[in-house]
Amino acid sequence: MSTVVIVGTQWGDEGKGMVVDLFSEKADLLVRFQGGNNAGHTVVVGDDTTILHHIPSGILHDDVLCVIGNGVVIDPEVLIGEIGQVKSKGKFQSDRQLAISNRAHIIMPWHKAIDQAAENAKGEKKIGTTGRGIGPAYRSKMSRTGLRFGDFLDEKNFPDYVQDNIGEFNCLLKNFYDAPELEPDEIIETYRGYARKLKPYAADTFRLVNDAVRARKNVLFEGAQGTMLDIDHGTYPYVTSSNTVAGAVCTGAGVGPRSVDKVYGVLKAYTTRVGAGPFPTELHDEIGDRIGERGHEFGATTGRKRRCGWLDLAAVKYAARLNDLTHLIVTKVDVLDGLDKIKMAVAYEIDGRVTDIVPADIEEYARAKPIYETLAGWTESTSGMTSWDELPPELRAYLARIAEVLGLPVAVASVGPGRAQTIVLHPPF
Ligand code: GDP
Ligand code: IMO
Ligand code: MG
Repeated sequence: MSTVVIVGTQWGDEGKGMVVDLFSEKADLLVRFQGGNNAGHTVVVGDDTTILHHIPSGILHDDVLCVIGNGVVIDPEVLIGEIGQVKSKGKFQSDRQLAISNRAHIIMPWHKAIDQAAENAKGEKKIGTTGRGIGPAYRSKMSRTGLRFGDFLDEKNFPDYVQDNIGEFNCLLKNFYDAPELEPDEIIETYRGYARKLKPYAADTFRLVNDAVRARKNVLFEGAQGTMLDIDHGTYPYVTSSNTVAGAVCTGAGVGPRSVDKVYGVLKAYTTRVGAGPFPTELHDEIGDRIGERGHEFGATTGRKRRCGWLDLAAVKYAARLNDLTHLIVTKVDVLDGLDKIKMAVAYEIDGRVTDIVPADIEEYARAKPIYETLAGWTESTSGMTSWDELPPELRAYLARIAEVLGLPVAVASVGPGRAQTIVLHPPF
């Protein structure tokens, strides 16, 4: 019986969805605590692939109660589409399997319009956001002009909310961004329909989550994005607009810090990044292309090509400290099959200094040169391997070195996207 947080330790897309689905087998409750539909979490079961943006990645297990916590921002249209998609697979047959916090915030059409217009206006300096309105929705939340899920369901007040808020955004769209304005009546009509469809899922999730923690149930917290995209600790301003670190569980799910027993950090056996910003170990050669092709490194949300590079353990070490990790999960090791030599960065050299701390100054970080260790690769195909002993000795040495540098045990290594393609050494429950 324990409470376990799953976080990404890199720039997102580490395979969190795969891990959460795997661990959900024995979980009672699963909570998403931050981010929105900028997340794209892939779950592969047999021949079937499901990409989840809003619904927690354990939804394919019938006995897990999935919670969208107060720290999340929700695009109702996307969520409704996703609910339909999962139900059409014959899963999620009871509405009681999903609970949405009445304190979560709604992404309104103007948030999406402003996100896209602002990115277009930035030209060369664009962040490369997903364009889903995430930043503007969190901005409204912090400005105390956001719309909470519980208030969204209030049919009487919703039209007033739209009328009170649309003017400010239309003024920006028209006068500052030279973009089309939005029509309030259309939004009121469409979004009222969304509210009706989502009403059955509204809940006081504070109670659900706290009761489960206190009853010592198996509780999972599912992070989105990755530590290096954290609004405070990531490569600002090339980050997302929420705290992605494990500490965000407290604010985004409504539990105290003593409620967390274990923190599993997910890392890919190499590094990827979608969108702009520094990436010290990025490869612009045929090895980078090979990793991208073998790893199918295209964004699960936007389909954009992910930038690829060697494993950056300096960044992961920073993430390990920020998240107080207890365990490591190394994914996609099969993607490195067949490489002669494999490199991993263990520190940076910045302006003649050696460090393993990610500096706050983004320009300084852009000058960071990785200090690499080179390890032997392996020739075998690992995707069918199911035990530690079966893994090639070079791969075991690679994983052992990761554990040594980070001072943490490797709990899981994955050799493919499927449930069975995981070697679990330290299960969470
Ligand atoms: P998330 O955002 O962290 O949930 O990760 P994504 O779903 O965006 O990206 C991870 C991708 O890698 C997905 O397509 C997964 O199906 C796939 N994947 C996960 N683990 C493995 C693995 O061990 N090997 C391979 N080849 N693919 C994997
Ligand atoms: P998952 O949960 C990878 C990136 C975007 C952009 C930056 C800001 O699937 O790991 P935003 O739309 O959040 O304002 O974009 O963050 N980004 C992600 N990159 N995986 C994600 O989620 C991401 N969510 C946002 O590409 O660089
Ligand atoms: Mg993803």
